[in-house]
Amino acid sequence: MSESGIMSAGANAEERQIEAALRPTTLEDFAGQPHVREQLAIAIEAAKRRSEAMDHVLLCGPPGLGKTTLAGIVAQELGVALDQTAGPVLQKKLDLTGILSNIRQRQVFFIDEIHRLLPDIEEILYSALEDFRLDILIGTGPGARTHSLPLPRFTAVGATTRQGLLSAPLRGRFGIVLRLDPYDEPTLAGIVERSARLLHVEITHDAAREIARRGRGTPRIANRLLRRVRDYAQVRAEGHIDHAVAQAALDLLKVDQYGLDEVDQKIMLTIAEKYGGGPVGLSTIAASIDEQPDTIEEVYEPYLMQLGFLDRTPRGRVATERAFEYFGVSRRLRFAGGQNPLF
Ligand SMILES: Nc1ncnc2c1ncn2[C@@H]1O[C@H](COP(=O)(O)OP(=O)(O)OP(=O)(O)O)[C@@H](O)[C@H]1O
Ligand SMILES: [Mg+2]
Repeated sequence: MSESGIMSAGANAEERQIEAALRPTTLEDFAGQPHVREQLAIAIEAAKRRSEAMDHVLLCGPPGLGKTTLAGIVAQELGVALDQTAGPVLQKKLDLTGILSNIRQRQVFFIDEIHRLLPDIEEILYSALEDFRLDILIGTGPGARTHSLPLPRFTAVGATTRQGLLSAPLRGRFGIVLRLDPYDEPTLAGIVERSARLLHVEITHDAAREIARRGRGTPRIANRLLRRVRDYAQVRAEGHIDHAVAQAALDLLKVDQYGLDEVDQKIMLTIAEKYGGGPVGLSTIAASIDEQPDTIEEVYEPYLMQLGFLDRTPRGRVATERAFEYFGVSRRLRFAGGQNPLF
């Protein structure tokens, strides 16, 4: 794994397997996101009392914050089966109609990366989610007719890292829309301690805090750092992770003090250095660093704002004093190029 790989919030196939072992299976074990947890707890309880399918849920938020985990928890807490698929996997209408025609009463149907559905597949989903009906077109040309099949009432759980790319009609079919935010340091430290217990690693509280601080507010990254620190501790410290060991291991891995990755750094330097601290428009930043505006807005900015490095204002993005200090950009640089009449 490359250095930037350590901090990338996405997971590869191998990591997904390891992750499965660290995944909480009950709402109680799921740390943080109190607002999300409470809304889900109420919806689950209400559905169970009425013996009905729960409302459809849309989970939005940056990678690695627990969307897939929550889909599993919802099914587990409801005591129903879970079927899953993902936007890019569904290439033909038949792929989706096949799944839907086998769906069972009240079960959970998890659709990951729901913003990546093809338009004609998305359309099938509309009537399935709204009216629990599957419309199949039989034949082609003038002789074609639509056959409508009733479906049992089920619960769809959609997940997306890019809410902005979701079409309004699709979004509107989810009764419960929940947004996940980056985790604060104490909560993330708690997740690291729990993972350490599951991995049978000894870790001090201070060391867990150090890993959490550099975990970019993201359980996936914090868990990944923990595994790398564990390797280091096994070779250098008889398997025991204390603060000094954690710090030495993370420094060796060149993990930034706040867990910022390359893109985070580029965004902040663009605003602070190139545009003198802003305000600068999102699309200008995006063009400067060759990223999609909505990726910056939905995947990167939440954590930069949580750290207090970046503010969103009506006139554009602004770097805070704290960002200038951290990135070592001098305020005087803001006026380079003669923009400030005083210099
Ligand atoms: N609240 C939490 N408490 C404990 N562990 C968590 C929590 N949230 C996420 N994790 C852990 O972080 C890892 C990544 O979570 P998950 O796969 O659910 O993220 P995701 O939002 O689905 O990411 P992606 O957008 O890449 O699909 C999992 O191993 C999971 O166990
Ligand atoms: Mg996921």
